[in-house]
Amino acid sequence: MNRVWLRWGMLLTMVTGAWAADPVAPGRRGMVATVQPVATQAGLDALKAGGNAVDAAIACALTLGVVDGHNSGLGGGAFMTLRLADGSLWALDGRETAPAAARTDLYLTNGTPDPRRSQDGALAVGVPGELALLAYASTNFGRLPMSRLLEAAARVASNGFALDRHYASRLDATRQELAAFPATRAIFLKPNGTPWQAGDRLVQTDLAASYRALAGTGPEWFYRGPFAQRTDAWMKANGGVLSAADFARYTVRVLDPVQGTYRGWEIVSFPPPSSGGVHVIEILNILENFDLRALGDRSPEFVHLVTEAMKRAFADRAHWLGDPDFAPVPMGLISKAYGQELARQIRRDRATGVSGSGVPPRATNEVFAGDISRHTTHFSTADAEGNWVACTASLNTSFGSKVVIPGTGILLNNHMDDFSIQPGIPNAFGLVGAAANAIAPGKRPLSSMSPTLLLRNGRPVLSVGAAGGPTIISQTLLAILRTVDFGQPPGDALRGPRFHHQWRPDELHVEAALGDTVIAALRALGHTVVVEPSLGAAQAVGIEAGALVGAADPRGEGSAAGW
Ligand code: GLY
Repeated sequence: MNRVWLRWGMLLTMVTGAWAADPVAPGRRGMVATVQPVATQAGLDALKAGGNAVDAAIACALTLGVVDGHNSGLGGGAFMTLRLADGSLWALDGRETAPAAARTDLYLTNGTPDPRRSQDGALAVGVPGELALLAYASTNFGRLPMSRLLEAAARVASNGFALDRHYASRLDATRQELAAFPATRAIFLKPNGTPWQAGDRLVQTDLAASYRALAGTGPEWFYRGPFAQRTDAWMKANGGVLSAADFARYTVRVLDPVQGTYRGWEIVSFPPPSSGGVHVIEILNILENFDLRALGDRSPEFVHLVTEAMKRAFADRAHWLGDPDFAPVPMGLISKAYGQELARQIRRDRATGVSGSGVPPRATNEVFAGDISRHTTHFSTADAEGNWVACTASLNTSFGSKVVIPGTGILLNNHMDDFSIQPGIPNAFGLVGAAANAIAPGKRPLSSMSPTLLLRNGRPVLSVGAAGGPTIISQTLLAILRTVDFGQPPGDALRGPRFHHQWRPDELHVEAALGDTVIAALRALGHTVVVEPSLGAAQAVGIEAGALVGAADPRGEGSAAGW
């Protein structure tokens, strides 16, 4: 089985050597937290220029596409959860769509699935949605012209920036795949074919020109103009099926966030085609039936109960979840009654086998609505007016499909791999799926991205999300548990040891920081424990002592900044 998400987590620790000092920052007027200091600064600059939290998030996204381009960018997709100063809640879906020519057998050769074709090259690419999302957010909720934010990011691309150790390690790990595509190789590898090193300056002239073209002519350049046409031509010449017509059809979807409560706190998260919000709420509904606070957040009992809840939610994910425009996703998954039913199956004295998904109440007739009108990166912003943003963006695995359309500098995603290419065949994250997440023309692949807001008495207190495939759900969940049950401020909530169980494979992945005694106790309860140096990368903005506070994951090289 391919274990990209595990290698990714381990690599992060190997390259950093040790966790960075807490990158936590306070502020009263605005706050930004991202995985990359240049992107954090771009968000802060937008705030200081009179922008709101939405402008700051757009600035972060555009700049991350330059300085963290192996994770996200204009060639990928994103989800954004917003709580605006007027109290309104929004979920903007910029997830990729499958090309019109995509069929369920797209990755089968003589009936046998070939996951390499859904992960690298022309067929791996879905229609990118991040730009449409950012343009929608800017037009409807922002204050600064998006052209100004594009120009600022273009300057970073044309001036270049120093690669950090994490970026350099991703280049090294994917050098062979990158070398297969001439336009990609020309940017990310040196003329002698070796990858750029930490400290080298990466200049992206074509990407800067693309950003400037967008600043001049708007998203039409991308969806109906030169970029769509060049992509169409490249795909035709390289065995792809993505067409200019697919680009022209793309629209951002404006959805109702999925909402729940946990011990009276309000959860606002991302609905299908993300599985994130549904399963964060489903797991919280199960855990509400246990007194976690009494157990302590590093006890084997705590890890055991949360793991048992994760297993059941991920079994449901594999069966029920998909794009709601194509497959009915039962709302009963997030009902309190279903949470209680699943909680009753959990035994405190041993790990239990979970053979498959449950049957949530009213499974067939109350479903999530579709449109109502990693690898991956998460960033959070907030401002003093009460605008709060949680945004997770992704090309999928590192450098996505590895395809750069010549002359544009834009890397394209490989999010087609997030479909279930055949029932029971694991994707790059080891996730299995069913008919609900089968490929269909125009459909959006299931995601784990979970940009989430936590509110108390209607007021936002935490914006959080993560990168790292399915571990996104676990990381987001643990940050919420540590906030609500253990009263931890955002920096501590992200620092605490992480663990993850996704039902299949039946393995509990834990960070070594949990300690040998706890790990031995979990094994004694019957869990198959796999110990990892570190898991994932989460960012958060919250409230501490009445002021805003930002926190970047101490496992990475990100930063928070406020003013
Ligand atoms: N690219 C990972 C996800 O969307 O879940």
